[in-house]
Amino acid sequence: MSCPVKYMYDDSQDGDQLDEEAGMLYGEYLMLDKILNAQRMLSEEHNRPVHDEHLFIITHQAYELWFKQIIYELDSIRNLFSVVLEETQTLEILKRLNRIVLILKVLVDQVMILETMTPLDFMDFRGYLCPASGFQSLQFRLLENKLGVQPEHRVKYNQQYSRVFGRDESAMKEIETSEQEPSLKVLVQRWLERTPGLELDGFDFWGKYQRAVEQLMDDQKKSAMKEASEKVRNYRLSDLEKRKEVYESIFNPKVHDALVSRGERRFSHMALQGAIMITFYRDEPRFSQPHQILTLLMDIDSLITKWRYNHVLMVQRMIGSSQLGTGGSSGYQYLRSTLSDRYKVFVDLFNLSTFLIPRSLIPPLTSAMKSSLCLNGPIKNISNCNGEEKEKREFENSLENSV
Ligand code: HEM
Repeated sequence: MSCPVKYMYDDSQDGDQLDEEAGMLYGEYLMLDKILNAQRMLSEEHNRPVHDEHLFIITHQAYELWFKQIIYELDSIRNLFSVVLEETQTLEILKRLNRIVLILKVLVDQVMILETMTPLDFMDFRGYLCPASGFQSLQFRLLENKLGVQPEHRVKYNQQYSRVFGRDESAMKEIETSEQEPSLKVLVQRWLERTPGLELDGFDFWGKYQRAVEQLMDDQKKSAMKEASEKVRNYRLSDLEKRKEVYESIFNPKVHDALVSRGERRFSHMALQGAIMITFYRDEPRFSQPHQILTLLMDIDSLITKWRYNHVLMVQRMIGSSQLGTGGSSGYQYLRSTLSDRYKVFVDLFNLSTFLIPRSLIPPLTSAMKSSLCLNGPIKNISNCNGEEKEKREFENSLENSV
């Protein structure tokens, strides 16, 4: 597409001239008149200007703009996931998830800039804000819902959004819609449930994995029994019993479902199986991108938790731990309670490490399964299963380096 703007650089004249028919200019295109005139300093309006209020406003506005971009990416990723996923689309998902991760990294670090404001400076204008608070950030709430934070997992104080957004009908509607639409977590779950190799009448990964775990437990029991010291032997045997219980929680669907209903586990039983399978066979070409997706989902959860943590520390520094927030919560105490696992949407992916087994016990792929994991999708072009691992590695490294 050619640029409609016609610039005329005329050396014989002072400065550059712009064609009369010129189209939109920078400021117009970006609507800078709106953005750059949107910093209304209340301290100035009260004839007691506080220099740092400007930074306070700009920081919040920058956050809101980035939230908007994250939601934009998230919506597009949810769209891609909502149809049965072609493997060619996973690269696009990867690119956009990676973009969200990079934005979140900026947001985590941005807290530092606002921390250059001292609590005394903040005190000078804090009174004017009341009852405004980040608590009323509609976009933050939408972002959480679209990722998959469920109302029942929220801290109690934060469950009733009508108290916060009650008078704003359109905000209420947007929040309700975001709770009803399938979240990223739900869509990822459906995608994992379709992981090739889980079929009972096919490769039956789960059956094979279960037998491998039984073998691991047997081997460890035999080794513990050989222990000369009775104390050490008993310690190892009781540790083994605990490990068995942990495995029971994934092999027994009832135990798994009970954990889901208590909010301690989030994925369906089948989706968990898919995630474990992808983790084990991530070196197979067809699982390489799915594995990257799982890693980026954990990065998103980690970074939001880090943002929460940085925000809580900043809040304590600015208002201490016993002042109420301008939004009416207990302030620091409330925010501290949001740091737990309840806000981690992909908590199951973090906990996968609990269920790993030594490489030597990972069920070998059948030749049918091996060739099915070699074929299709964009990775076909970068690795051909005949040992051309180098190119595939380079591709994966480039993604890892970009994260
Ligand atoms: C001086 C700096 C800040 C202070 C003292 C502060 C204080 C607080 C407090 C006390 C709360 C709890 C709700 C309430 O007001 O009662 C809160 C919530 C929140 N703040 Fe801040 N904040 C600051 C900066 C920011 C910035 C820069 C953002 C960026 C958007 C932000 C976003 C939020 C969000 C999203 C919540 C809701 C969190 C949740 O409910 O899980 N805050 N803030």
